[in-house]
Amino acid sequence: MYTKEIEITLAQLAKDLLSRLQQQQLLQSIDETLDALRRVISYNDWRYYVQSEPVISDYEYDQLFAWLKKLEQEHPELITADSPTQRVAKGLTKEFVTVPHLVPMLSLENSYNADDLLDWDRKAREASGLAEIEYCIEPKFDGASISLIYENDQLTRGATRGDGVAGEDITVNIKQIRSIPLSARFSKYGIHQIEIRGEVLINKNTFAAFNEKRIADNLPPLANPRNAASGSLRMVDPNEVAKRGLEAFLYHMSFHTMNPGQTEPAALTTHSGTLELLSTLGFRSPAKEKKVVKGIQAVIDHCLWFENERDNLPYEIDGMVVKVNDYQLQDKLGMTTHHPRWAIAYKFKARQATSKLRAVEFQVGRTGSITPVAKIDPVPIGGVTVGSISLFNEEVIKEKDLKLGDMVLVERAGDVIPYIVKSVADLRDGTEQDIVFPTHCPVCHDKLVKPAEESVWRCTNINCEAQVVERMIHFVSKDAMDIKSFGESNVRKFFSLGLLKEIPGIYELDFEKIGQLEGFGKKSLTNLETAIAQSKTQPLHRLIFGLGIRYVGETTAKTLANAVTHIMDLQNWTEEQILALEDIGPKVAGSIRSFFANADNIAMLNKLAALGINMENTKKSSNESGNLSGQTFLFTGTLHKLKRSDAEELVEKEGGKIVSGVSSKLNYLVVGEEAGSKLEKAKKINTIKILTEEEFIQLLNINI
Ligand code: IVH
Repeated sequence: MYTKEIEITLAQLAKDLLSRLQQQQLLQSIDETLDALRRVISYNDWRYYVQSEPVISDYEYDQLFAWLKKLEQEHPELITADSPTQRVAKGLTKEFVTVPHLVPMLSLENSYNADDLLDWDRKAREASGLAEIEYCIEPKFDGASISLIYENDQLTRGATRGDGVAGEDITVNIKQIRSIPLSARFSKYGIHQIEIRGEVLINKNTFAAFNEKRIADNLPPLANPRNAASGSLRMVDPNEVAKRGLEAFLYHMSFHTMNPGQTEPAALTTHSGTLELLSTLGFRSPAKEKKVVKGIQAVIDHCLWFENERDNLPYEIDGMVVKVNDYQLQDKLGMTTHHPRWAIAYKFKARQATSKLRAVEFQVGRTGSITPVAKIDPVPIGGVTVGSISLFNEEVIKEKDLKLGDMVLVERAGDVIPYIVKSVADLRDGTEQDIVFPTHCPVCHDKLVKPAEESVWRCTNINCEAQVVERMIHFVSKDAMDIKSFGESNVRKFFSLGLLKEIPGIYELDFEKIGQLEGFGKKSLTNLETAIAQSKTQPLHRLIFGLGIRYVGETTAKTLANAVTHIMDLQNWTEEQILALEDIGPKVAGSIRSFFANADNIAMLNKLAALGINMENTKKSSNESGNLSGQTFLFTGTLHKLKRSDAEELVEKEGGKIVSGVSSKLNYLVVGEEAGSKLEKAKKINTIKILTEEEFIQLLNINI
């Protein structure tokens, strides 16, 4: 769709528009400006969401988008249906109307091994009379099936699969998926109306980040990326759908009518040609992932090879789909009422299994949270034996109606943690028992509490042994003080033997006694001693993270460490001061404040200081000869090329200083995606230079 020349023209047009925006100047006419903005934005959507290779900064994109929106608000009569602004939906969906598909959305026949595929190929060869068939193989995306209709080049409808004959009209939500073009040049190929099929997915990282946030907000995590994708498609608030980061692969043109007098495009004689055509038209299709081979043996080899690649993909797939490549041959083979005879799914090894739920244990976390953990008869799933599965909280047990003795369906998808999909209620024989949630801490026996706004029960006794041990395990862990060769098992062992009671004790261990323990040779003892000694000089943010202050993750720990000279500075900080720091909200600020207001915590920090643990922000001693010496920087919004912490480190290396808020003392504000109030505030102070991430990289003169 975009030739090199067009891409160059669009890149120049973007530059031109940006400079005109600065000077508040239109192109020749308002129509021309609107058209240019729409073309540039749609092109950049494609670069970003389909090609994953953006060519302008998010800040520039946002500026262009805002300009388009403003002009359209001033001239509503000039809004077009495929304007990028039209993805933004107004209001909630009251009800999803059921709509018939133009062509029933058939399913696929499944195969599980080479024999199944050989069998299927034999039938196809017999029916076609061919000695060898050409196949196109592509991933079987594990998401939610959709159908799209384009009429006169415009996206007019998006629907779920439903029962295959009719689905739900989810057009407003489909428009939130930015890799799906609102218009595409089907007319160039003579196509007037077309129904396209594909799959909506959430990539594994987006899913993991989404669940991390849910857990932090005390909400149970969503089961798997597939459920998250199909759930997202049916949300009533399209703006929420937009935030889910959905992606879509389109792989099938199921129905089309041609413009009068036009003939079938050559690309539409094979399935692989269709995938290429979809890509050319601006869709994300498995054109790159597909493989065309001759004969079934090559299909089998490729499927087996791809199964090993499965975990390297950014999204979930549950198998491969093998399709007869030639359309004439597809027509000859035809279909049953359930599936086409010209395609078959090759399913990868199941990542689901059933097993008996034997018991539920209640674990006490570092912050006193009580987590129910299901103990099942160990079963192998996707190459790993699963015996313990977190149930997160009481709600999950109720929601899934779990009972002791139930047969449960367990799933483990890729690097996603295992979870219980459901109990198989049909298999109950009446001997199953209710799971009783404890009223008291299983370790210290204090009464448990559940604050109204939370879904988690807690033990509030901070001296509860379980919490003490978990805090120490966290302190020595890789992301915190990173005391190599210490680990969970040693913390537990030393604690149970009375050799370790609290965090400072880590630096006062009696190595003579430890040396007498079984399994501690001279070498492992020296390793442990060295690792503990080395950890004393860890940077401040690791210590802050290691303290296990509630809601303080690695990022917040870095923000805090950057904001102070010495950890004890935080003792005097007010909640307002903490709140002024980047990305710290009231809940987190309150938690930090109460940690440093607690005398026991201060005593522990003093003890650690006396034991020689680094308490200072050593990065603060500035490099006076650096290029940025004396300059202050602040970052806001999401950066894409650099990690925020790395960018900050670069500034400090060059003698610059990171500050925590916008004031007249700030020299540079670096703006990433979704920059908020800081940008607005900085715009009002004209001595502050506002930089995009690109401009920041140029300023530092570094190669990224
Ligand atoms: S072709 C007539 N190709 O798998 C066309 N389906 O288990 C039939 N699916 O309902 C579909 N990836 O939702 C096809 N590359 C792919 C696919 C795919 C995932 C889904 C599709 C289908 C289901 C059958």
